Amino acid sequence: MSIKKAIFPAAGLGTRFLPATKSSPKEMLPLVDKPMIQYVVEEAVSSGIEHITIITGRGKRAIEDFFDISFELEHELEKRGKHNILKQMQLIPNMANICYIRQKEPLGLGHAILIAKDLIGNEPFAVLLGDDIIDAEVPCLKQMIDIYNRYKCSVIAVQKVDDDISKYGVIQPRYLEKNIYQVLDMVEKPRPDEAPSNLAIIGRYILTPELFDILKNIKKDRTGEIQLTNGLKELVKRQAIYACEFTGKRYDAGSKIGFLQATVEFALKSQDVGKEFAQYLAGLQLTTPNKKKNKKSIQNPE
Ligand code: UTP
Repeated sequence: MSIKKAIFPAAGLGTRFLPATKSSPKEMLPLVDKPMIQYVVEEAVSSGIEHITIITGRGKRAIEDFFDISFELEHELEKRGKHNILKQMQLIPNMANICYIRQKEPLGLGHAILIAKDLIGNEPFAVLLGDDIIDAEVPCLKQMIDIYNRYKCSVIAVQKVDDDISKYGVIQPRYLEKNIYQVLDMVEKPRPDEAPSNLAIIGRYILTPELFDILKNIKKDRTGEIQLTNGLKELVKRQAIYACEFTGKRYDAGSKIGFLQATVEFALKSQDVGKEFAQYLAGLQLTTPNKKKNKKSIQNPE
């Protein structure tokens, strides 16, 4: 069975971006001119996904409005003769079949996935986290689906991380072939000296429906949340999970620094403003706050 359905958990509180996320969802923060979630929906759609379930919560209505038709806006753009942007607006509601489930309380990523069980049914599905933005020639999810199609088992995306390994779930891998590993076990946020490898789990998963039964019965953690990693640790005891070391660049846009890095790099690639922005950056005399003497000017990326 091929992967046609995807879950987008988007009910988190986005506390790292407060106060910006007090009244608007983190997933709607723009990278240049598109909200973050649009990049990830585009990745899913170009990987063959047809049905998307977005898990939302309080304060997330802007996501639903974004993927809906806006008659007034379209009418106004038509009236003003802005046909190019009108075309782009008309594409958004037709990208995929999107439905929404509200997670009443943010009880963890595992819980967010579990509440989509009835919409997914008994088939394998993808999970994409809207704040992991991946710039890749072949969409990251497509790379994973290709592995799923060969091995018919759950596939998680990993990347090599040299610093900050303690921020991630980390796999204990068995090398299979280029960029593919079997997952023997995983450890959530290990101390650097206890990490079983430098392969960190990032926000893309292909999962078999057996995971739902596991999540239903799994114990909540100390904070009362159902953690996806605990579900995966149980799943790997019952069936094979493979890891895909994808080709592409990932931005942790759920953190301020990752968001800023993505903004700069996407702006430099923008047809619209890329050239002008590169000139602007090249003209900046950058200083690091603590070492004012080390005045460094950045390289012109061209
Ligand atoms: P994060 O912890 O990275 O995101 O959750 P957050 O909670 O929104 O942000 P911070 O940490 O407070 O700044 C990873 C993903 O899981 C979703 C989030 O929306 C995010 O996409 N999530 C998390 C849920 O949908 N429900 C939850 O209960 C928890």
